[in-house]
Amino acid sequence: MAMTQDEMKQAVAKAAIDYVVPGTIIGVGTGSTANYFIDELAKIKNKIEGTVASSEASAERLKGHGIPVLDLNSVDEISVYVDGADEFDRHLHLTKGGGGALTREKIVAAVADKFVCIADETKKVDILGKFPLPIEVIPMARSYVAREIVKRFGGEPVWREGFITDNGNVILDVHGLEIVDPVGMERELNNIVGTVTNGLFAQRKADILLCGTANGVEVLT
Ligand code: 5RP
Repeated sequence: MAMTQDEMKQAVAKAAIDYVVPGTIIGVGTGSTANYFIDELAKIKNKIEGTVASSEASAERLKGHGIPVLDLNSVDEISVYVDGADEFDRHLHLTKGGGGALTREKIVAAVADKFVCIADETKKVDILGKFPLPIEVIPMARSYVAREIVKRFGGEPVWREGFITDNGNVILDVHGLEIVDPVGMERELNNIVGTVTNGLFAQRKADILLCGTANGVEVLT
């Protein structure tokens, strides 16, 4: 019988354990797929030095398993970062931030030697943008940033009302974009004053993507 989406998430989380480098610090992402990875990591927790978490939620889950969680400022090197995605294309450019953790995710991914993305085939697209692009914004700049986005890129920014990030900011989800140049758009979005982070992971894309399919895990590079 074909795997369900949840089973595909579990399968890629399990497969990601092969990329864990013993004796090192592992970066850990956020979301339901990353949660499965945390549960798998717990089984080999004595083989790693510790973790850096990309959200308070993941830190809590890691600690619940008795896995050490370190402050990024006390860490020089992260061997591998394992995290999910909301969308990916064939170049392994990603959209992330559905769970609102994009800023810390981008920071941990930047530090890591290798970024292993774990996702299932339902998230594969030809052109990014079907999933609304999350942008973390300083609260007072929310309306300004929304206007600038419409002016520069079109699309429809929607305030994720009632949601505050781990950094005390708000999220705009931009609907209706067709992102033909993810690297360029990531760079230009970073230039809008008041924007903290955008959910495009294109300048620092995934190095490896473990893709859950109905028939098993495919390794994309
Ligand atoms: C959180 C993220 C997640 O990686 C993304 O939303 C995927 O989540 P899930 O594994 O639950 O589908 O970017 O900010």
